[in-house]
Amino acid sequence: MIRRAVPVGIGHYLPERVVENDWFTSFLDTSDEWIRSRSGIERRHFAAEGETTSAMAVRAAQRALESAGLTAADIDGVIVATSTPDFTFPSAATMVQAGLGMKHGFAFDLQAVCAGFIFALSTAEAYIVSGQAKRLLVIGAETFSRIMDWEDRTTCVLFGDGAGALVLEAQDQPGEATDRGILATDLHSDGRFRELLYVDGGVSATQSTGVLRMEGKEVFRHAVEKLAETAHTALDRAGVSAEDVAWIVPHQANLRIITRTAQKMGIGMDRVIVTVQDHGNTSAASIPLALSVGVANGQIRRGDLLVAEAIGGGLAWGSVVLRW
Ligand code: ACO
Repeated sequence: MIRRAVPVGIGHYLPERVVENDWFTSFLDTSDEWIRSRSGIERRHFAAEGETTSAMAVRAAQRALESAGLTAADIDGVIVATSTPDFTFPSAATMVQAGLGMKHGFAFDLQAVCAGFIFALSTAEAYIVSGQAKRLLVIGAETFSRIMDWEDRTTCVLFGDGAGALVLEAQDQPGEATDRGILATDLHSDGRFRELLYVDGGVSATQSTGVLRMEGKEVFRHAVEKLAETAHTALDRAGVSAEDVAWIVPHQANLRIITRTAQKMGIGMDRVIVTVQDHGNTSAASIPLALSVGVANGQIRRGDLLVAEAIGGGLAWGSVVLRW
C-alpha cells in the first residue's frame, strides 16, 4: 500500500455581480461578437467593492468542507494559490485560516499565476505523501478585476474573479494506476518569458500594485505548444493513456486553447470541462472552479480519471493526473 492525496471535498464561490460582454462596449471599442469568437467568454463575475480574495476563499473552503462532511478542526493546513492576495502580507491563506476559525495547523500562499492551482496541488501532495499532513485545504482564489487596465481592450475583457477549494486527504491505496487520488504531476517554469505576461507594479520594484500586461498572441502560441505536452508527460508518469481520461479539466483562459489542446491529446470536447463562457479567466481559481462545477452538475464522478493543465505568467505551466 502507498499513501496518496485523495480528493474528498470540493466547493466554489463566485461573486454575485455578473458582467456580460456587452458591458464593455459602453467604454471600449469592442463587441460581444469579438470577445466570444476570440476567447469563448460570454460573461464573468466581479467581486463587490470591499470583497476580497480571502473572503471568497473562505466561502469556497466552507463549501468544500461541507461536501467532505468535515470541519476546519479536521484540517492540518491551508494552501492558497493566488496572485491577488488581500495584502502584501500576511498571506491570504492565514486570513482564510482565521476566517475558518482555525487556531491550529499552518497556512501559506503560493504564487504561480494561472498555473498556481497545479503547483499548489503538487505541493499539497508532497506534504501528504511525506506524512507531514493528513488533510489539506487547497484553494485557488483571485480578484483579477483589481489588476485590470480598463483602457486596454486586449486584456480587461478576458478576466474574472472567484474561488475554488479542494480538500485532499491521506489515504492508503494499492499503488496502481487504478488508485484514487493524485497519480502524477508535471511542473515547469521558464523565467525568460517574463515580458509575455506580467503585472507592471509590485512591492520591491515600484511600491505600487500595477496592472496586467499581456502579449496575448505569444502566450497563446506557448499554451498550444506546452499544455498537451505536459499533460502527456503526467499521463505517462501515472501509467495511463489519453484514452483512459474521463475528463480534461483545463485552465479556463481561452476556448480556442482548450479546444486545440484537447485535439492534440486526441480527446473529444465531450470529455472536457468548459466553464470559460461563464467565468472568464480566473487565473489560479479557474481549475478548482471548473472541478467544482463539473462535480456539481454530475459530469465528474467518483473513479473518473482527470487531467488538469494550466499555463500562466512566468511563464509557469504544468499538469496533474488524479482519479476522483
Ligand atoms: N475587442 C475588439 N478588438 C480587439 C480586442 C477587443 N477586446 N482586443 C484586441 N482586439 C483587436 C486587436 O487590436 C487586433 O486588431 P488589429 O488586427 O487591428 O491589430 C485584433 O483584434 C486581433 O488581435 P489579436 O491579439 O491578434 O487577437 P487573438 O486572436 O490573438 O486573440 C487573445 C487575443 C484572446 C488575447 C488570445 O491571444 C489569447 O487568448 N491569448 C492567450 C491568453 C492566455 O491564455 N493567457 C493565459 C494565462 S493568463 C495569466 O497567467 C494571468
